[in-house]
Amino acid sequence: MSEIVLTARDLTRHYDVSRGLFKPHATVRALNGVSFELEAGKTLAVVGESGCGKSTLARALTLIEEPSSGSLKIAGQEVTGATKAQRKQLRKDVQMVFQSPYASLNPRQKVGDQLGEPLLINTSLSAAERREKVQAMMAQVGLRPEHYQRYPHMFSGGQRQRIALARAMMLQPKVLVADEPTSALDVSIQAQVLNLFMDLQQEFNTGYVFISHNLAVVRHVADTVLVMYLGRPAEMGPKDEIYNRPLHPYTQALLSATPTIHPDPSKPKIKIVGELPNPLNPPSGCAFHKRCPYATERCAVEVPGLRWVDNRQVACHYAEQFVA
Ligand SMILES: Nc1ncnc2c1ncn2[C@@H]1O[C@H](COP(=O)(O)OP(=O)(O)O)[C@@H](O)[C@H]1O
Ligand code: SF4
Ligand SMILES: [Mg+2]
Repeated sequence: MSEIVLTARDLTRHYDVSRGLFKPHATVRALNGVSFELEAGKTLAVVGESGCGKSTLARALTLIEEPSSGSLKIAGQEVTGATKAQRKQLRKDVQMVFQSPYASLNPRQKVGDQLGEPLLINTSLSAAERREKVQAMMAQVGLRPEHYQRYPHMFSGGQRQRIALARAMMLQPKVLVADEPTSALDVSIQAQVLNLFMDLQQEFNTGYVFISHNLAVVRHVADTVLVMYLGRPAEMGPKDEIYNRPLHPYTQALLSATPTIHPDPSKPKIKIVGELPNPLNPPSGCAFHKRCPYATERCAVEVPGLRWVDNRQVACHYAEQFVA
């Protein structure tokens, strides 16, 4: 088995939010018990509607924010409780690409200098060596040598995302967390950028956590799929299991809503009805019960635990009934 580069155990992140003057503070359970293991060179895709906690997970995994509880290991080393120096070291091993390249790039710094910066800070390479490495990476992501001297605004959205990816890969991190990296791009260039992500993963054997609300995109890149709903895992398993035989009604609904080239008439069509619940006041029992066509009284009172059914983990009381 190949190296485990990232291990999350029951990760949670809560936010205390003010609801206004004289009202008690409320707690948003943005991330509520997420566990997984990621192998080198593999991709865990995280999917779910806006607000389900994807970016919160990304910030916890990249050490931008501390989890409220749970444990996180990067290449076997525990992050929670690590010293400042250890965290600094670990931070190099998990890099992030954001939806907006401007969150990753400095608009006032030349592209070549930005790509060289991680090397300047973290290695003792000479200026000439750094330049050489930067140029090699630029070539790898499809940029031309003359682009070295240009500023981010002089590039198209797709090229900027290539630069952000190049920067994230400069130190050859063990893990790359990409939060909706192609969502802001034209559909016509999304595939090119996704292919570049895949090429670099192969080249450097990086573990990817790839976040997207778009199941068509995820199908292209994932090995394992984690479907989230209101901060909790609804279903997690190998891509083919999730796409071909989804067991959680929420996964079934998300897939029904995703256009495919060859729709399968034997698959149940489920529509997600109603709004995403208010995360400040989540439903009792199964968080999906108010929108689930199969909900029973039990669903309104009993939280379904995540359990193994038919090669994947699923949090639904009735998952067995959906096994074809
Ligand atoms: N800093 C914060 N303070 C308070 N609530 C937050 C904060 N960040 C995220 N949230 C809330 O946590 C939930 C999950 O948000 P987020 O992780 O951004 O979801 P996603 O990326 O899936 O759209 C949302 O209800 C959001 O409003
Ligand atoms: S536990 Fe009940 S409400 Fe939740 S997904 Fe399963 S059937 Fe639907
Ligand atoms: Mg987000």
